[in-house]
Amino acid sequence: MTKHTETATNNNPSERNVDLAFAEAKRMIDLIATPESEVSDQDRRWVAETTYQNFHDHINKGFLEYRKSVTETDDFALTDWYGEGSILRDVMGREYIDMLGGFGLYSPGIRHPKIVAAVKAQLDRSPQYSQEMLDPLRAHLARVIARLTPGDIQYGWFANSGTEAVEGAMKLAKLHTGRSGFISTLSGFHGKTLGSLSLIGKSVYRKPLLPLLEGVRQVPFGDADAVEQVLKCAATVGDGIAGVVVEPIQGEAGAVVPPDDYWPRLREICDKYDVLLIADEVQTGFGRTGKIFGVDHWNVTPDIMCFGKALGGGVVAMSGFFSTAKIWKCMEPNPFMHTTTTGGNPLACAAALAQITVLIEENLAQQAAEKGEYIISKFKVLKEKYPHILQEFRGRGLLLAMIFPTDEIGYKVAAGLFSRHVLTAGTLTNAKSIRIEPALTVSYDLIDEMLRRVEDTFASMTV
Ligand SMILES: Cc1ncc(COP(=O)(O)O)c(C=O)c1O
Repeated sequence: MTKHTETATNNNPSERNVDLAFAEAKRMIDLIATPESEVSDQDRRWVAETTYQNFHDHINKGFLEYRKSVTETDDFALTDWYGEGSILRDVMGREYIDMLGGFGLYSPGIRHPKIVAAVKAQLDRSPQYSQEMLDPLRAHLARVIARLTPGDIQYGWFANSGTEAVEGAMKLAKLHTGRSGFISTLSGFHGKTLGSLSLIGKSVYRKPLLPLLEGVRQVPFGDADAVEQVLKCAATVGDGIAGVVVEPIQGEAGAVVPPDDYWPRLREICDKYDVLLIADEVQTGFGRTGKIFGVDHWNVTPDIMCFGKALGGGVVAMSGFFSTAKIWKCMEPNPFMHTTTTGGNPLACAAALAQITVLIEENLAQQAAEKGEYIISKFKVLKEKYPHILQEFRGRGLLLAMIFPTDEIGYKVAAGLFSRHVLTAGTLTNAKSIRIEPALTVSYDLIDEMLRRVEDTFASMTV
């Protein structure tokens, strides 16, 4: 099979060879500078073959067994190359409808022209900071986010990934309260660095790395009484809880929407026990669930908000955590308590500022709400028609998931959609779910086409 071909230069992939390092780096640089229409078939094959081989030799062979892009293609593995809006085209020219949205980062669509233009403009001025002069874009973006967020959220800090935003929020909560414990939720997901991982509600990612942070307790999502119970017990025995970290709508658990009184009650309970309420909006933020932020569904103002994914508009990696002036005070005596060299760099800030203008100008939250309702109504019909395949369809806005009776059925559906050129994926803490998480700008034509291919997949299955 082509994707398993050894390349001549790969005989000893760990050998030190500066000349080869130069030649190999240059080949890819030259290739990405080549206009798309001039990339030869030979070069395309080279990209597909060496990508597979390099994953095998230098990233992690394990991925090659899990990715449908490898297991469900019988010649070249599907290899990322080009995207626009909700269409992805691999290096060999195969086209897919993107119903994955890069796990929620492509909310404005792939390569939104206004976001790309802002980043290109900033790239021609200054791609990174001096680290000594005050940086205008970061300061300006913080002001814009203070205006966009609910209540008295005012100060923030930027990083590159969602997990770093959660780490920052945890440090802030510890510094402000002087306590170290946290409450999080079962099946909740907050990232995979050691602090965020301590919050995760799934043993598979946690157990092999124990001990993680002490004093973290997980309770069922959607159950405010359970949070209160833990806080009451902690207060009785003298354990200090700094914060309650919750996703407004759980993403990686398969788009789980809590009861309507959950967030208002969390707010009340956290106030009662003087504990910080931390909303992890990394996946729900910036329009994804049909409101600008997930907590807006219940008009709740958390004490700390974490952002990521769509913040950088699907163009530059970007994340951040924000809080009130009162809570942020503890960061002032030593502002170096939490820093990063590259977080909030000018390219990322340009992308985020442009993303926010697109969010507002194109009313992305409302688009998500309307398209989400449309998709849910169509899946309701599919569920009635194929109850043995589709157990549940849930979520809000365009954070949606199909839930299957077994992992095997879920895998068959994912493979069936993949063979029909619809890109979807499972969720990290629930093996029986497949997400539908397209760009908020996805067209109704593409939604209808996706629905047709889903029905075709269901109809072809013998379960
Ligand atoms: C709610 C939530 N928090 C945090 C993260 C971690 O973000 P990242 O993968 O950028 O570290 C994710 C990623 O899926 C997430 O969904």
